[in-house]
Amino acid sequence: MSSLTKVLSLLAAASMTVSGAMNAAAPQHDPDGPLFLVNRQNMVSVAYEPDDLEMSDVPGQVRRMRPAAAAALREMFQACREETGCQLLSISGYRSYAKQEGIYRRKLRSVKGSVEKAQEYVAPPGASEHQTGLAMDIGQKNKIHLEVSFRDTVGGKWCRENCWRFGFIMRYNEGWEEITGYSYEPWHFRYVGREFAKLIHDADVPLETWLVDYRAEKLREIISYNPAPATPSDLE
Ligand code: DAL
Ligand code: ZN
Repeated sequence: MSSLTKVLSLLAAASMTVSGAMNAAAPQHDPDGPLFLVNRQNMVSVAYEPDDLEMSDVPGQVRRMRPAAAAALREMFQACREETGCQLLSISGYRSYAKQEGIYRRKLRSVKGSVEKAQEYVAPPGASEHQTGLAMDIGQKNKIHLEVSFRDTVGGKWCRENCWRFGFIMRYNEGWEEITGYSYEPWHFRYVGREFAKLIHDADVPLETWLVDYRAEKLREIISYNPAPATPSDLE
């Protein structure tokens, strides 16, 4: 290999490392990654629909999710049943843009057109995490309506304390309304994978806040990236 080729390949390798690191610093924009962020500030288009949705094998309704989330949900429901005897139920998983639009319109009508009131609990179309196929609203037997009282049920308590073991996080917790933009939803769980779920659960902050800290750390790593200088033997 000529010296020039060697230098060029060293530069290419360094640039790939940096671009990989840059991607790692923006996981909220990766629609295939577990940290893809969808909210009112980060909306998806009507065309966005994961192409690998599958039916999660759990009791309940609207059970479609992306495969890793569907498998984790099954494990979580099984564990809850084994540990508490409580059968959890899926209430609402994947929702298309059009489906969310219908829900949002109905909500708007029910609150006489008040956008503020409608958006306490319902995301406008394109802003719902349900469109990612990574979110699930959960209930339990005799508790299939999405109500704050789910918090005090056996299943609701167990989910809050244990969801992270299966890769899920609570997304709209009490006290986080200013950051998430939504009222407390003890039923809404978001899949981020086991590794991130533990970190986010331990940090006890909304996903939005955690991502800011995570990205700052990744950017610090890029800035301090300091490859060893090429030696004469590298250029031989
Ligand atoms: N209830 C949540 C915020 C949604 O509509 O996606
Ligand atoms: Zn939800």
